[in-house]
Amino acid sequence: MKSLIFATKNQGKIKEIKEILKDLPIQVQSLEEAGIDIEIEEDGMTFEANAIKKAKTIMEITGNLVLADDSGLEVDYLDKKPGVYSARFGGPSATDEEKNQKILNLLQGVAEEKRTARFVCVIAAAFPRGEVITTRGTIEGIIAEKPSGENGFGYDPIFYVPAYQCTTAEMVPEQKNAISHRGKALQEMKQQLEQRI
Ligand code: IMP
Repeated sequence: MKSLIFATKNQGKIKEIKEILKDLPIQVQSLEEAGIDIEIEEDGMTFEANAIKKAKTIMEITGNLVLADDSGLEVDYLDKKPGVYSARFGGPSATDEEKNQKILNLLQGVAEEKRTARFVCVIAAAFPRGEVITTRGTIEGIIAEKPSGENGFGYDPIFYVPAYQCTTAEMVPEQKNAISHRGKALQEMKQQLEQRI
């Protein structure tokens, strides 16, 4: 059976992609399962640039089809920050709670209609023959006044989805995966792969 490597060390992402791609005739391997241990600096100005860099670097090392993702939070009032800096917002050692508090502080007193935001996820696929494709998924929401919910990670406790009247940290994983930026980008990547493998 053919295989692909998903270039992440995040076990949650590996689990999700294995689940979504399970009916394709391709075996999904994590970086660890492929025996690779390298750090790739995410120094691009866009989610696309970072995802492509990760996928191409590992494809060139392994000669295998490689998928990689990059994601983050865009807050409109903050000119789409933290964007590609989402993981490092507030400094490399800031906790999720501190990052969330920083956003809440920057939005203090800002009216609900100006608190619009979205999670973005870009997935890149680098094929051994040189082709590179990307897919992009988003989920729209607003930044809540205070954190709520215990599920998820990162900015989930402050990301309120009006259609569901809760934050993404208050959703069960299946519910979040069905509507999330990552879930949408993965579903589209699945369709792209179906045409190519
Ligand atoms: P990366 O794509 O793993 O580099 O993640 C970038 C950062 O964006 C994460 O560290 C989180 O802070 C944030 N982020 C991306 N997706 C989500 C999500 O689904 N929920 C909450 N935070 C997220």
